[in-house]
Amino acid sequence: MPRFAFFTAAALAATLTFGLAHAQEVADPSEAYTLSRGAQLYDKWWVPIKAPEPTETHPAYPAAGKKSGKNTWRCKECHGWDYIGAEGRYSKGSHFTGIIGVSGMAGADPAAIADLLRAELHGYTPAMIPDAALAQLALFISKGQVDPAPFMADDKSNGDAAAGKVFYQGLCAGCHGLDGRKIKDADSLGTVSGNTQEMMHKVLNGQPGEAMPALRVLDRQLVADIVAYVQTLPE
Ligand code: HEC
Ligand code: HEC
Repeated sequence: MPRFAFFTAAALAATLTFGLAHAQEVADPSEAYTLSRGAQLYDKWWVPIKAPEPTETHPAYPAAGKKSGKNTWRCKECHGWDYIGAEGRYSKGSHFTGIIGVSGMAGADPAAIADLLRAELHGYTPAMIPDAALAQLALFISKGQVDPAPFMADDKSNGDAAAGKVFYQGLCAGCHGLDGRKIKDADSLGTVSGNTQEMMHKVLNGQPGEAMPALRVLDRQLVADIVAYVQTLPE
């Protein structure tokens, strides 16, 4: 399928998803919308649901880890942007935890995943993540994980940056600037784009609490093209 032909239909859906990004309740959410909400919860769950931020370090966060405080409650901090935990990017470095990933639960019953998150080890109470949000998160784990590995080579996106440029300049530059430096008080996209798995997650699902679009509807290779272009932006 030619990528541009796909985009015409996808662009409409993306626009709709974009407009709904801040709605608390949608009458009839598409599955893509629900999965992107779940993915944003995986990223930083207290932001989209405006829950109180955790204060202590997560009790299951390993002593060998280098982080502390609220960020140790983010799913991504223990399980990785690549969803494969100790098998992936977080096998070493400042985010090391040595914990298994969540990719093994792809296809699992969302209710069983929700139970796992309510159980003592994870300790996510309804006061932290209410049932409706937990269901979105569980559905993301079951049906929404996009393995970034096929879209990477040598840790970078294997996409076509020239193809991605057109989409970046049309879809992203309004907020981020043509050079990726426009958002005040945020690092430039060129500075933060080194983690390809994180970039794929953000472009597919949006940024928690921001009006940034969630582009799950796009052809995956096109998302990789956009990421490839972002990786050429100046620091
Ligand atoms: C502080 C670290 C930590 C955080 C944060 C964390 N987990 Fe986990 N998670 C673990 C550990 C440890 C295990 C493995 C438990 C075991 O081996 O039985 C696990 C296991 C899992 C599993 C089962 C994987 C499998 O194949 O058996 C899923 C699914 C999961 N976590 C999802 C999540 C989600 C979703 C979040 C965010 C709401 C989250 N986790 C946050 C530590 C964490
Ligand atoms: C409606 C405005 C808007 C649009 C359109 C938008 N973004 Fe964003 N994006 C944001 C905001 C706001 C943030 C949060 C910045 C911050 O605080 O780090 C963000 C964050 C990000 C981040 C995470 C940065 C980090 O440090 O974690 C990435 C990556 C990103 N955007 C890429 C893109 C790409 C690629 C596109 C186009 C496909 C895009 N954005 C479109 C507003 C937007």
